[in-house]
Amino acid sequence: MEPTRSENRVSRTDAPAVQGVPLLDLSQQHAALMDEITDRLAAVCRSGQFVLGPEVTELENRVAEYCQVKHAVGCASGSDALLLALMACDVGPRDEVILPSFTFFATASAVTRLGATPVFADIDPATFNMDPASVQDRISPDTKAILPVHLFGQCADMDALNKIAASVDIPVIEDAAQAIGAEYRGQRAGSIGRIGCISFYPTKNLGGAGDGGMLTTNDDEVADRLRLLRGHGMRPRYYHHVIGINSRLDSFQAAFLNVKMPHLDRYVQQRQANAARYTELFTATGLDRKIGLPPSPAEHRHVWNQYVVRVPDGRRDELREYLADQKIGSEIYYPLGLHDQECFRYLGYKRGDLPETDRATDEVLALPIFPELTAAQQELVVNQLSAFFATSTATHALSGPRYQSRTEARRT
Ligand SMILES: Cc1ncc(COP(=O)(O)O)c(C=O)c1O
Repeated sequence: MEPTRSENRVSRTDAPAVQGVPLLDLSQQHAALMDEITDRLAAVCRSGQFVLGPEVTELENRVAEYCQVKHAVGCASGSDALLLALMACDVGPRDEVILPSFTFFATASAVTRLGATPVFADIDPATFNMDPASVQDRISPDTKAILPVHLFGQCADMDALNKIAASVDIPVIEDAAQAIGAEYRGQRAGSIGRIGCISFYPTKNLGGAGDGGMLTTNDDEVADRLRLLRGHGMRPRYYHHVIGINSRLDSFQAAFLNVKMPHLDRYVQQRQANAARYTELFTATGLDRKIGLPPSPAEHRHVWNQYVVRVPDGRRDELREYLADQKIGSEIYYPLGLHDQECFRYLGYKRGDLPETDRATDEVLALPIFPELTAAQQELVVNQLSAFFATSTATHALSGPRYQSRTEARRT
């Protein structure tokens, strides 16, 4: 029987009623650090050192330690980090790079900018991350690298991917843009493949005041090459060894991020607590039988850059509109697989070629998960979802292989 609308509601806090919930609100996070930020930015101004310099070196050292790698190399964005990583692995025309189609555009455009061909793999429906079986199927003599994405803050199945890569002697480059601090079997994102690529875009868990990125690696030679490539291949000044690009990290960005860096673990813990509270509230209201909740395997550290549910039966867009009317922010990451994007038509894919990717694009909806989200705001989000589903007469049970990982489905 359908629970009534009032049975579905949750309210455990005495906090004043909240009016709407944004998808992301960093104003509190930044307000708390504003004095420190302005002092540090002023010091950069006084120093006159605006590109690279001591702030960047400090951030590189901090990120290397945090990501448990020997080297971290700052660059201008997560997109450039991907490009530089591929350049350092000598990816070029006629090479293929296997990557997920269910990711942000930059993962694939870095490959095409070097004249190489992106080969799109499907995802594991349980994690949204690249399915190693799909990767194995796509290995060819031209495969030059495997490029998994740790989507939404959860690591891809790195053991399986590293094993496939090792069997054909090619590198794994981690797109850890959304996953700084995530762990896979105790190893930090960015430390598990040959090179990790991090983004400091403001929506990321360690978000800057503009664009910024970083590369992580344990390989001394690779680190040296990345430093060379990010600065026009120049060493010393005006002597160019290789054709690099201009992708240096600004001191202002590094100074801003150096202020936030000591708080990153707290931000992650707050995101984890918010995810756990959603699960509790969705279960208490029975909504876990109407929407697919994101799993968080205990063996891995999920850093929850996004909290993404699945809304089945073609109701996702309707729900999103309903939430927007109630001033609840949400987002669709991503409405189209890259294999289905106009700019990649020349690769010859069509919708249906990657069925789990296509289904995810129809069902996913990201809900607010930012660290400072309050319990009362989360209750409002859950209550509005309840209200939406209370208007529905059908019961949509979520069970069966659709929401299991491929490995689980094979086991059952
Ligand atoms: C998975 C993924 N890869 C790459 C990028 C590119 O990072 P940036 O925006 O810093 O260029 C992003 C950023 O949104 C991303 O989410």
